[in-house]
Amino acid sequence: MQWATLAAVLPALFANHVASQQMLRFACSQLVVERTDPLVNPGMKFTPHLHQIVGGDSFNVTMEPEVMDPAQLSKCTSCSFVQDKSNYWTAVMFFKHKNGSYIRVPQVGNGGPQGKLINDGGLDVYYIPSGKVTAFKKGFRMLAGSAGNTDASKVNKARICHRCWTSPNEGTFVGGAPCDNNDSVDIPSDPKCKMIRQTIIFPTCWDGKNLDSPDHQSHMAYGQGNGANGGGACPSSHPVKVPQVMYELMWNVTNFSDRNMWPADGSKPFVYSMNLGGSAAHGDYLFGWEGDSLQKAMDNRCDLNRACPAAGLTTQEPAQYNACKKKQQAVEDVDGWLKEMPLGSKAIKA
Ligand SMILES: *[C@@H]1O[C@H](CO)[C@@H](O)[C@H](O)[C@H]1NC(C)=O
Ligand SMILES: *[C@@H]1O[C@H](CO)[C@@H](O)[C@H](O)[C@H]1NC(C)=O
Ligand SMILES: *[C@@H]1O[C@H](CO)[C@@H](O)[C@H](O)[C@H]1NC(C)=O
Ligand SMILES: *[C@@H]1O[C@H](CO)[C@@H](O)[C@H](O)[C@H]1NC(C)=O
Ligand SMILES: *[C@@H]1O[C@H](CO)[C@@H](O)[C@H](O)[C@H]1NC(C)=O
Repeated sequence: MQWATLAAVLPALFANHVASQQMLRFACSQLVVERTDPLVNPGMKFTPHLHQIVGGDSFNVTMEPEVMDPAQLSKCTSCSFVQDKSNYWTAVMFFKHKNGSYIRVPQVGNGGPQGKLINDGGLDVYYIPSGKVTAFKKGFRMLAGSAGNTDASKVNKARICHRCWTSPNEGTFVGGAPCDNNDSVDIPSDPKCKMIRQTIIFPTCWDGKNLDSPDHQSHMAYGQGNGANGGGACPSSHPVKVPQVMYELMWNVTNFSDRNMWPADGSKPFVYSMNLGGSAAHGDYLFGWEGDSLQKAMDNRCDLNRACPAAGLTTQEPAQYNACKKKQQAVEDVDGWLKEMPLGSKAIKA
C-alpha cells in the first residue's frame, strides 16, 4: 500500500520537480473550534463565523506580532513537529439537513506519500520549498482566499479547490496532484463522494518587509506557475521566495450521502461556516516555529513528518499532539445537530 501510494503521488505532485520532491507534510489535530480570529477580528469573541484552529496552544483572541510569540508562549502543539507552535485555521463545513438542522462535517487525516496521517479532526500542513527559500519571520501572518466571496470566477482553482473523493478510506489516494481539472472551486455535491478534499495553497512571494498588511494579503503575491510545486519566479514587487504553505482538509461526508436527507429546495447540502459555498473558502496562517527551525528544515530538505536531526526537528506521537487542546473562549455548541449555524450578525448570509 505504502509503495503503491508513493508511486501514485510523487510523480503526479512533482512532475516538474522530481529532483526536489522533499517537503514537510504533517498532521495537525484540532485544538479548538470556536468563533475567534486574531488575524481578521483581533480582540473579538463570537466573530462572524466559526473556525477550526490547530497548532500552538498560545492561540488567543488577540495575538499582536510585537508582543506575542507563539514559540515562547505555547506549552504544547497539536501538530506533529514539536518545534512548530504556529496556528493554522479555516472555516468548518456543515451539512444542511432538509429539516433545516445543521451538523458539522467530521474531519480526518489524509493518505498520500506516508500512506496515512493520524489526526483527531484537524488538517494536514505542507511546507513545499522550491530552490532556496526564506522562512517566515517571527510575527508573520497571512490569509488566503476571501470569506465573503460568492463568485466562483474570482477564485483561481489552481490555488483553492475541492475534489470529490470516492474512496471510503483516506489511505487510498484518489487522483493526482491537487487543484487540477479534477477539482472544482465549489464544494462537490454528489452522493458518490465519500470524502471531500479541500486544498488551500498560499502565495510564495513576500515583499520582504511587512509581517502583515491591512488586508492580510497584499504583503504577499503568488509567483509564476500553478499548483503544489513550491511556486515559480516571484514578481519584483514581492521578490522574496518563501516556502509554499498548503493546507489539506479531508471532510468525511460518508454519513450524508443519502439524497433523501438533502435540502428539498435544491440548495447545496454542504456549506462552510459563513453559510457560503466553496468560493468563500479561506485559510489563515500565523507563523510560530521556534527560532530558525523552519529555515533549517527547508535548507536541509527535511522530508514529510519525519524527525530531521540536521534541522533539530523532533516529532511527537499522535497521542501527544492529539492531547493538545484548548477550551472554547467563545463558548457555544458547535457539534451534533444544531437548529441553526453559529453565525454573527455581521456574517454574510447566502
Ligand atoms: C489570552 O489573552 C488573555 C487577555 O486577553 C489573557 O488573560 C490570557 O492569559 C491569554 N491566554 C493565553 C493562553 O495566552
Ligand atoms: C433533523 O434531522 C436530524 C437527523 O435525523 C435530527 O437529529 C434533527 O433533530 C432534525 N431536526 C429537526 C429540527 O427536526
Ligand atoms: C485527473 O486525475 C488523473 C489521475 O491522476 C490524471 O491522470 C488526470 O490527468 C487528471 N485530469 C485532469 C483533467 O487534470
Ligand atoms: C467516515 O465516516 C464513516 C461513517 O461514520 C466511517 O465509517 C469511516 O470510517 C469514516 N472515515 C474515516 C477515514 O474516518
Ligand atoms: C455517522 O453516523 C453514525 C450514526 O449516527 C455515528 O455513530 C457516527 O459517529 C457518524 N460518523 C462520523 C464520522 O461522524
